[in-house]
Amino acid sequence: MNFDKSNALVARELKVAPLAAQTFSKSYRYFIPDHSPMFIDRAEGARVYDVDGNEFLDFCCCLGPITLGYNYPRVNEAVIEQLNKGMIFSTQAPVECELAEKLVELIPCAEMVKFVKNGSDATTSAIRLARAYTGRERVAMCGYHGIHDWSIGASQNNRGVPKAVCELTSTFKYNDIEDLDRVLSSHPGEFAAVIMEPIQGDGTTSEYLQAVVDTAHKHGAVAIFDEVVSGFHYAMAGAQEYYGVTPDMASFGKGCANGMPLSFVAGKREIIRLIEEGVFISNTFGGDALSFAGALATVRELEE
Ligand SMILES: Cc1ncc(COP(=O)(O)O)c(C=O)c1O
Repeated sequence: MNFDKSNALVARELKVAPLAAQTFSKSYRYFIPDHSPMFIDRAEGARVYDVDGNEFLDFCCCLGPITLGYNYPRVNEAVIEQLNKGMIFSTQAPVECELAEKLVELIPCAEMVKFVKNGSDATTSAIRLARAYTGRERVAMCGYHGIHDWSIGASQNNRGVPKAVCELTSTFKYNDIEDLDRVLSSHPGEFAAVIMEPIQGDGTTSEYLQAVVDTAHKHGAVAIFDEVVSGFHYAMAGAQEYYGVTPDMASFGKGCANGMPLSFVAGKREIIRLIEEGVFISNTFGGDALSFAGALATVRELEE
């Protein structure tokens, strides 16, 4: 295989954009030089075709968003139909309401949903809501939850995050309920939320996930499943459906719209509706009708 065009584009973009990639894990640093399609021209089903004309079976699935396959007709048709009516408006498109109703029907913890644009927005929205709901500030987390300060501050990539913010987040070990109890007991009455990726590695048990929810509640914290990876993959509603354990809130993203940029936080009405009472979660592209159309078509296809 020849990768001349890919390599030339990496060198060219490196002069104007760090990592020559907008997503950390898509950077040339994470792929084997001269064996990987650094720049992709097009994709179809499970296959991608790079700028040098090489064909690959794409096990990355775009890091999770591509649930049904690239260029999936039913999703494309729905997006094109909406595109012809308009991408986004000054107020809502009906497809927004339709999608919200569908998700509330399908996701066990969802009494209400709030749409945002990427997984980090969804987890951060959940944390802000949990802090407002409990009147507390500390967070216990287990897994990767995106780029925002409260979460990345607890990782090794925390340059630029204020120390005061880093100190509010603690991590706990997966599949070890004593560890979670120990972390929450270290600052009694101070934890607003327990957030975790419910499925990691080889997964877990219903008993463990239920114990996480119960332990969070015992300490007065909100239990949040970060279903950005597990959602729309292991089951439509992720771990809460797969393992039958319902958290107070959950974040979803990646696979919900077969590649269209959409995410959302779902949860109990009494928590999510705090958005009507001073918890500010809003963005200009929040009403992006194209993504809603893509998500509705994806969900309907997955249902079938
Ligand atoms: C479990 C989990 N939560 C949150 C995120 C953040 O999502 P995004 O990169 O869309 O902001 C990711 C991204 O990989 C993730 O895997």
